[in-house]
Amino acid sequence: MNMTLRIRLVILLLSLVSVSTNASASADVELRDIYLEVNAQNLREGFYTYNNLCRLCHNLKYIKYSNLSDVGLSKHEIDVLRGTNGVSDTLAASMPPSVANQAFGKVPPDLSLMAKARKNGTHYIYTLLTSYYEKSEAVYDNHLFQGIRMPDIFEYSVTENPKDKELIDKRVQQVALFLEWAADPKRDERKSMGVFVIAYLMVLTLLLFFLKRRIWANLQ
Ligand code: HEC
Repeated sequence: MNMTLRIRLVILLLSLVSVSTNASASADVELRDIYLEVNAQNLREGFYTYNNLCRLCHNLKYIKYSNLSDVGLSKHEIDVLRGTNGVSDTLAASMPPSVANQAFGKVPPDLSLMAKARKNGTHYIYTLLTSYYEKSEAVYDNHLFQGIRMPDIFEYSVTENPKDKELIDKRVQQVALFLEWAADPKRDERKSMGVFVIAYLMVLTLLLFFLKRRIWANLQ
């Protein structure tokens, strides 16, 4: 290996190291545990929090109105929500991307797969939204994501009353659980599919067993 090549390699390695330390800049923030359970009520309320707050800026481009029956919405509720949209339309943000881009210098990301895109995604989302703090007077930042362009939606950083904080905590957990569902809405379907496949295999085994007995009976 000649000298310049070796130097280049070292520079490349050094730049890789600095990239990885940058990316884990907030790795020292411990993710918070979610204590709410995944149940119909929490998923449903999580959806409404998404719909009333997060949806101003964030799409859920893989979730159709019709999918919402899986988180406990009735047909009537879905019809009211979708208005003139079709049942197969997906959930779009209310703010047009170009306006959001102007306001935040970035188009807010789609949240459909966010719970999978981040490590420990559900806990990550919960921790992120409850890690805002007042850096200096009226200047806010986030312990988990320094310099984040998303405002403190729940006003966590300025809420002092423990009861109010607890309520925010609960709502954030619910929305995190809803986004976990959103990242894998076919999970329940897959589970019942698994049961079906096993039943099918059992019947097949039985049939083959009788077939074998028959063939052997003829041979003896
Ligand atoms: C007023 C607009 C707005 C609202 C409302 C909003 N967000 Fe965001 N969100 C943003 C923007 C802008 C970003 C991009 C932040 C960045 O990359 O600096 C973002 C990024 C995110 C991210 C990605 C963070 C990462 O690691 O890249 C998550 C998760 C998120 N938002 C969740 C939510 C949830 C949950 C809600 C509702 C409770 C919500 N957001 C409401 C504007 C918004």
